[in-house]
Amino acid sequence: MKKKAVTILSIESSCDETSAAVIRDGHQVLSCVVASQIPIHQRYGGVVPEIAARAHVEQIGTVIETALKESFPNHNYYESLTHFIDYIAVTHGPGLIGSLLVGVNAAKTISRIYSKPILPINHILGHVYSNFLNNPEYPFPFITLVASGGHTDLILSKHHGDHALIAATRDDAAGEAFDKAAQLLNLSYPGGPSISKQALLGDKNKFKFPRGLNKSESLDFSFSGLKTSLLQLINDQIIMGVDIPSITNDLAASYQNSIIDSLVTKTIAAAKIYDVKNVFIAGGVSANKALREEFALQAKQNNLNFYAPNLEYCTDNAAMIGAAAFGSVLLSHTHNCYDVNVTRDPSLTL
Ligand code: KG4
Ligand code: ZN
Repeated sequence: MKKKAVTILSIESSCDETSAAVIRDGHQVLSCVVASQIPIHQRYGGVVPEIAARAHVEQIGTVIETALKESFPNHNYYESLTHFIDYIAVTHGPGLIGSLLVGVNAAKTISRIYSKPILPINHILGHVYSNFLNNPEYPFPFITLVASGGHTDLILSKHHGDHALIAATRDDAAGEAFDKAAQLLNLSYPGGPSISKQALLGDKNKFKFPRGLNKSESLDFSFSGLKTSLLQLINDQIIMGVDIPSITNDLAASYQNSIIDSLVTKTIAAAKIYDVKNVFIAGGVSANKALREEFALQAKQNNLNFYAPNLEYCTDNAAMIGAAAFGSVLLSHTHNCYDVNVTRDPSLTL
């Protein structure tokens, strides 16, 4: 007999995207609605936590309702939740406390009213599982580089219940390095897309930027020295009378190249140390085209299989939370809604 499909309503509100999705069997995206706050935070050059939380409060109801409507157009909210949703999944950390609370409380309320089990999901594991949306294979063991605005982590996954953090940034995250450079170069927020756009027009070998911890045996990352060296370079060029806008393309290309080099080198080293053949990238920075190309090239040269998520699932979204939650279902892990709370440092177990 064919197994009944598992349908999950997932909610993500850990930072500045309010998102809800309906995911079937961990891979099929019935809907994924993302209300981005980028225009709201752009004028500040970064996410303002209090404003983010308030924007989530305004958006969350509509976003969940729209996700259900797109998945089950002939049914109302009550019918969709009662008859078609098996579980509610929600990001419970890490992230901004005020932002997380909005999604967690919405999920707990739905779970209680509709008597659906709730699955609390680690946001970083959500990024790991973004690679399995529209892709039914889990080629365990694998290593995922999760590079976002808040994290730069290497995670070794042996099976659904076994994900281990093997390296992390010691200071700034890779996305943060992009965002801070964009501020220094007067480019728009978020910095990743604006730096990569300028980089297309520049020479990546024009300026030499440091590669954090590249001489160290450690697999950890470091990006704070890179940002400082950009600041120093800009100041030196200004003293020499150079017009910064005239070299912004070269600065962006060289700076981006340093980040890419660190990310690719450490990830490939990790694959060798842990004897793993499959390498994934995820998180907002994994949308970077030059990074994806360099990874593909170096993975091939090192006989590794390289995978990257669809572009729409690189930055924060609820579909990836539903994909990870399916791992919890496979492990038969569910929770009572009263047990689920925002967690500063959630475990990587599903
Ligand atoms: O995963 P994400 O949406 O949110 C967090 O969990 O932090 O990642 C956002 C980060 C931002 O720092 C942004 O600058 C970066 O991802 N980002 C990129 C690109 N698109 C977004 N970085 C490099 N290249 C991109 N194309
Ligand atoms: Zn994220």
